Amino acid sequence: MKALVLAGGAGSRLRPITHTSAKQLVPVANKPVLFYGLEAIREAGIREVGIVVGDTAREIEDAVGDGSAFGLEVTYLPQDAPRGLAHAVLIAREYLGDDDFVMYLGDNFVVGGIGDLVARFRAERPEAQIMLTRVSDPRAFGVAELDGGGRVVGLEEKPERPKSDLALVGVYLFGPAVHEAVARLKPSWRDELEITDAIQWLIDHGRRVESTVITGYWKDTGNVTDMLEVNRLVLEGVEPSVRGEVDEASELIGRVVVEAGASVAGSRIVGPVIVGAGSRVRDSYLGPFTSIDRDCSVIDSEIEYSIVLRGASIDGVGRVECSLIGREAQVTPAPRVPKAHRLVLGDHSKVQISK
Ligand code: G1P
Repeated sequence: MKALVLAGGAGSRLRPITHTSAKQLVPVANKPVLFYGLEAIREAGIREVGIVVGDTAREIEDAVGDGSAFGLEVTYLPQDAPRGLAHAVLIAREYLGDDDFVMYLGDNFVVGGIGDLVARFRAERPEAQIMLTRVSDPRAFGVAELDGGGRVVGLEEKPERPKSDLALVGVYLFGPAVHEAVARLKPSWRDELEITDAIQWLIDHGRRVESTVITGYWKDTGNVTDMLEVNRLVLEGVEPSVRGEVDEASELIGRVVVEAGASVAGSRIVGPVIVGAGSRVRDSYLGPFTSIDRDCSVIDSEIEYSIVLRGASIDGVGRVECSLIGREAQVTPAPRVPKAHRLVLGDHSKVQISK
């Protein structure tokens, strides 16, 4: 069995972060979201992984390399443009051969891994096995319609009028028949080859498609709110450890990780919080569910429920909450007079200012 990991895509909902970085590499508890997926694949006993890459290919390749750090053998499969999930299967045809495979969307996060799903697929050998979960706004997803017996009878991609609240989770298992389906697809209204259409084809042609409704935790980390939520969840499970320097005047409460080479002085940190290597925290408050990446500085500021990326600095600003702060970003106070906000914002940035 192989894995096909999708790590292309434009990441438009995470702009401006994704203008300069792949959405699959945005860190959760200081580790790229993609790495959690790769680890889950390895834990499910799979070694051979094809990663479909697009414009951000270089960055993904730099981060993942040949996969040996994860115990994987990685092959990169370039996709010329984001033409849909089924298009990714199409271009991976030769790599996949007639092997069974798990398709894993690189920005999806599944708690508890995929071991049970893979084991069930291996035991039952349907042509496709999908995971469904209840969501509040199904219009943003692929949506499944089940019959009275719980069998999938129809699938629709981002329907205006969803027939259920059961969304397709971004982890799919397939046997080789999916290639027959994919080869026959026509682009959808959004000009993509949809994997939902391929699965519908399998159903319409009498192939066995199994589904599981998961009640556990799953998120598509495509937007900031979900990203912060996944960060919260992962931080809740971190083991506290202090390998960096913390002075006597500081107070650490709960699950706090201070990585080697980080330093904390005159500050109060209420976990779960992680402070990455080389970061400095001075005279500040770090509140629950905050990840500070490597080489950041937080001085005379308060920050809570946020993700701060590598090399960013936050200096002398009141309280920052629910924020995603990009690499090397600088947040500082404006001079007292005139009383004005001074902003240098990247394209598609979003700022909420409290008056
Ligand atoms: C894709 C799939 C959709 C699925 C979702 C899960 O959507 O097309 O069926 O529910 O992933 O994350 P996209 O991320 O392409 O909008």
